[in-house]
Amino acid sequence: MTAAPPRNRLIALTAGELADRLAEALDVYIAAMGYPPGTGRQRRSLWLEHSRRPGWRAMGWIDPAGSLLGIAYGYTGSPGQWWYEEVHRGLRRAGLTEHPWLDDYFELTELHVRPDAQGGGLGEGLLRALLAGTGSSRVLLSTPEYGSRPPGRAWRLYRRTGFHDVLREHRFAGDTRPFAVLGRELPLDPARPSR
Ligand SMILES: CC(C)(COP(=O)(O)OP(=O)(O)OC[C@H]1O[C@@H](n2cnc3c(N)ncnc32)[C@H](O)[C@@H]1OP(=O)(O)O)[C@@H](O)C(=O)NCCC(=O)NCCS
Repeated sequence: MTAAPPRNRLIALTAGELADRLAEALDVYIAAMGYPPGTGRQRRSLWLEHSRRPGWRAMGWIDPAGSLLGIAYGYTGSPGQWWYEEVHRGLRRAGLTEHPWLDDYFELTELHVRPDAQGGGLGEGLLRALLAGTGSSRVLLSTPEYGSRPPGRAWRLYRRTGFHDVLREHRFAGDTRPFAVLGRELPLDPARPSR
């Protein structure tokens, strides 16, 4: 009988484990987003600060050699956080303060898969595992608009998993790019059977 081939593992990361793998996690982020290498240094302290926030959780994919293939994290949103205040401003501006979007939500802050590992369902695995057991009523995230281009993989993933538009063409302070804020109620619907 032949042994089953070694498989990638989806694991929950503690704040200490993420700190130990921070350089590798930031490499995944930079490669996935196509950002210049220096971006990682700027993000280091922010990611560590996020890992101390209430409700913080992180998941990662590890390949059989122990390398990180994907990373996702988020935390409980609350007033006073930069992202909360920015989205609150956007909702007010759009006259959308009636909906309880910001009352009890988990902010999906980062979700990235190394480019050579994309396209096989790892991103959806991260998203589902991260959002299972957040304790929040809903999840919110922001993602760059795709404009006139066809929707990319992140957009297809969010639509497939039932995310709705909360804000479109939102401008976060200090960033000239338009962003969409997407959200949905939790829990997520069960996954479709894999193809
Ligand atoms: C967005 C991102 C995290 C998605 O991760 P991914 O692993 O590439 O994407 P998915 O889990 O959606 O899987 C991709 C494809 O595999 C398919 N798939 C799902 N399960 C599968 C399985 N078991 N076997 C084979 N294919 C599968 C999906 O249907 C999907 O098809 P599509 O992309 O053609 O629509 C990743 O592409 C990425 O890091 N992108 C750049 C960074 C980024 O945009 N991050 C989000 C910022 S907001």
